[in-house]
Amino acid sequence: MKIQPLIIIFVAFISASVGSRILFLFPTPSKSHMIIAHSLSRTLAEKGHDVTVVTPFPLNKSIKNHREIVIPYNKRAKEVMDKIMETKPKSFVEMVSLMMEVNFIEGEEMIASEKFQEITNEKFDLIVMGMNFQNFLLGYGEIFDCPVIILSVQRHFSGTNFLIGNPIAPNVAPHLTVAKYDMNFVDRVKNFIAYGLDLIFFAYANYRQKLIYKYKYFSSTNHRSYDDAVKNISLVLVNDHFTEGVVRPNVPGIIEVRGIQVKPTPDKLPDNIQKFLDEATNGAIFFSLGSNFKTEQVSDEKIKTILSVFSKIPQRVIMKWDYDIIEDKSDNVMLGKWLPQDDILAHPNVKVFISHCGLGSVVESRYHGVPILGLPLFADQMMNAKLAVEEGWAIEMDLKVLEEKEFHEKIKELVYNEKYATEAKQFSRLYRDRPLSPRDTAVYWTEYVINHRGAKHMQYPAIHQNFWQQNSLDVIGFLLLCLWIVVKIFKLILNAVKKKFVKNADSKKKQN
Ligand SMILES: *[C@@H]1O[C@H](CO)[C@@H](O)[C@H](O)[C@H]1NC(C)=O
Ligand SMILES: *[C@@H]1O[C@H](CO)[C@@H](O)[C@H](O)[C@H]1NC(C)=O
Repeated sequence: MKIQPLIIIFVAFISASVGSRILFLFPTPSKSHMIIAHSLSRTLAEKGHDVTVVTPFPLNKSIKNHREIVIPYNKRAKEVMDKIMETKPKSFVEMVSLMMEVNFIEGEEMIASEKFQEITNEKFDLIVMGMNFQNFLLGYGEIFDCPVIILSVQRHFSGTNFLIGNPIAPNVAPHLTVAKYDMNFVDRVKNFIAYGLDLIFFAYANYRQKLIYKYKYFSSTNHRSYDDAVKNISLVLVNDHFTEGVVRPNVPGIIEVRGIQVKPTPDKLPDNIQKFLDEATNGAIFFSLGSNFKTEQVSDEKIKTILSVFSKIPQRVIMKWDYDIIEDKSDNVMLGKWLPQDDILAHPNVKVFISHCGLGSVVESRYHGVPILGLPLFADQMMNAKLAVEEGWAIEMDLKVLEEKEFHEKIKELVYNEKYATEAKQFSRLYRDRPLSPRDTAVYWTEYVINHRGAKHMQYPAIHQNFWQQNSLDVIGFLLLCLWIVVKIFKLILNAVKKKFVKNADSKKKQN
């Protein structure tokens, strides 16, 4: 029988895309990262894959084909995380060394956890992991002998670009610290320097991760080198989209899935919230400073200011708050500890979102076309806020120096000046217009990597080159050298000819 092998091949191919075993390694210290990771893990489970998620922040929902391995949240990691979240200003170096530390701790906590070790002898077809100074976990690609993809919760940035060889494009893509779409010459100089410093910083960060990889878990005698493990990454799903203003070159291994956490249709709201919003005839405002934010980070005085303004406006306010009660709360304010943000923003009565401008919040606001009053607290939130302001659908304020009068004015401006809502709505339309939804895009490429066993053919060859080769600096250097030699030779010839000519002239003179 000739037909049998064919059938076997066919069946093997089918089973490669449906019902694959996918492992999410997400020992992240940040709950908000899990919102993105869970969006993908849930969707893959719904499509019939067998998904295992390793994380300190489980979904707490029972979903078919979706298993969660809960690893403990390390105590010291918690302390470091609290330090990061303090509103006290920190230097860049201090900030990133704290971020590195907390991610190292959590990554190693996962490796050490018994529950994780128990699954290391299982088989998986693919690993999905985050982009958080935890590259030493790439060693598990070899342990499970399967391809690895990275799901980055950030926008395009040097960390992911370096991993996959994506061009930096300092001429058009603003660095986090520059945060401007329309860059003039001075901005571009700043941008160039900022990306140059990234080069040094990520070389250092890489070195630190390599040490953990090599000396703690994947020694070079039994395992592939750290550099080879990094070059094994199949693709990066990045939390960005060109409609957001930065049009830039991307290699095929970069897949833009911005908006992945937004549900195609909103879930039903809890009854009390639904009623509260339905009856908000003057509109409603949603106030949330993010999932990592602790209420204690705002001084009592600031809370008083905020609540006083809320008591003077005709809109209803839903406020994310860690406690059930606060003093001075007026009747138009409703408090909640964990609110379904995406579903609330989808409600047509919500007019303004007062937000810390975390990436997830900005995306959801964009998707639903709700203008933002930004109160960014740190790092990328500042950039997200600035860009939204530049796009014309947001206003930014500084929480630390928030004044009652100005806060009130800004809220009124956002509610009553149509400009912001119109801009936000128009943007929302553009944002939703894609050949595949962000979720379907992510699922498509995830299955693509499984079906083509790592999709090596898609890899950008430049990741196998060094810095000089990648930027053609060796070629430019060589050509400059050639030019120099040609000029030298030309000069020599010229000199020789000149000498001879002068000699001839001299001898002629003598003869006369
Ligand atoms: C899941 O439950 C745990 C413990 O009850 C809680 O700490 C955590 O915040 C919950 N996770 C989510 C995403 O709600
Ligand atoms: C990475 O390694 C795995 C096996 O460990 C392999 O299946 C996959 O094709 C490799 N991917 C790339 C892009 O080299």
